[in-house]
Amino acid sequence: MATDHSDQAVAALARERVDHRFKGLPPDAEGLTVGELAAERRSLFTGGFTTPVLALSAEALEHNLVAMERYSAAHGLAFAPHGKTSLAPQLFERQLAHGAWGITAAVPTQVRIYRAFGIQRIFLANEVVDAAALRWLAAELDADPDFRFIAYVDSVRGVELMDAALREAGARRPVDVVVELGGGEGARTGIRTEAECATVADAVAATGTLRLVGVAGYEGEVPRPDGERVRAWLRRLTALAADFDAAGRFEGVDEVVVSAGGSAWFDAVADVFAELPTLSRPVLKLLRSGAYVSHDDGHYRHLTPFNRVPEEGELHPAFRLWAQVVSRPEPGQAFLNAGKRDAAYDLDMPEPQLIRSARDATTRPATGLAITALSDQHAWVTVADGTDLEVGDWVGLGLSHPCTSFDKWQLIPVAEADGTVTDYIRTFF
Ligand SMILES: Cc1ncc(COP(=O)(O)O)c(C=O)c1O
Repeated sequence: MATDHSDQAVAALARERVDHRFKGLPPDAEGLTVGELAAERRSLFTGGFTTPVLALSAEALEHNLVAMERYSAAHGLAFAPHGKTSLAPQLFERQLAHGAWGITAAVPTQVRIYRAFGIQRIFLANEVVDAAALRWLAAELDADPDFRFIAYVDSVRGVELMDAALREAGARRPVDVVVELGGGEGARTGIRTEAECATVADAVAATGTLRLVGVAGYEGEVPRPDGERVRAWLRRLTALAADFDAAGRFEGVDEVVVSAGGSAWFDAVADVFAELPTLSRPVLKLLRSGAYVSHDDGHYRHLTPFNRVPEEGELHPAFRLWAQVVSRPEPGQAFLNAGKRDAAYDLDMPEPQLIRSARDATTRPATGLAITALSDQHAWVTVADGTDLEVGDWVGLGLSHPCTSFDKWQLIPVAEADGTVTDYIRTFF
């Protein structure tokens, strides 16, 4: 759901000046606006960009946006993509244009960013017990009757703190909450048993400041997840929704919210949510995948549900980090000028994919190269015997883990397959 305000705030990003704040961008573009630089349609390789530079593929981004729009529509799921992946309002705008119901946040500061860009429906997949954040939220909700906001509750103490802060703030609209069911013994946040969920729901009902609208959780934190365990947990979640409904806990709400789903198990979410019995009122089945937007060349390449249901779609990796060989000190060793500051490294090392020769600009597969470690500003590369790699060559790297790739770059060129940069994505980490 986009508004004029969001259109204008996103459009204003094109008027920002390009300067030293944005690594990798052409030094000779200093002083141009982002929009002016985009209009120049420079080449990522010859247009003055400095290495290392992270680029997003224009084609892959569009493909992924369409793939999840189609998947959620085909399965009757509303979609609130997790925005913490990119924290990029331009991508939120495109996700909304591709049918998303709203955007998911992890923490209140992200909700503030979303509101600055006019996002009207926000699902906060976390409990908020911070009085200052709740004060701000109450004012935001009171100022805009069309702002729809939903947050987790996962404890009676949390409910008490929320209630006290909202009362203190003089909140006029109740805050919609969903009870968070934990993924099981040893999982992350979330209530462990159905009985405790009922106790927390009772606590919500006893406040005048909170309104229970549904149940939610995150199957990605089910311990030792596999198809069976994840489905079993999702069935607990839908059964909880049905029990709460039968107990009359959703009296007075227009629709019941049932939410789960990252980028690793949305097939299981679609299957189990389809089994949800008819409730006393319409159900908003809300999927929250975030990593899908850029997908990746590691963790999510292995985990994507499309590996199990290829007939339902596929995702394309959108990131490529271009770094340059700055040292070849031993026959089997090279160093690139990109390190932990530039590439995700929490799940897997970057994957060398292409070499672009500094002599003649020809491109070849990076066969024989492997990254073994990252320093802050260097990648350690082993070079197999017989592999041609010189100081000055560019190496294109695939990355693993979208969330820790986006967060290292504040302005990311979007390049078409031939290297033409058509846009720049601003992030707010
Ligand atoms: C609560 C919650 N929901 C949804 C997601 C999105 O999952 P993914 O990053 O696999 O797309 C996450 C990711 O960490 C999460 O923590």
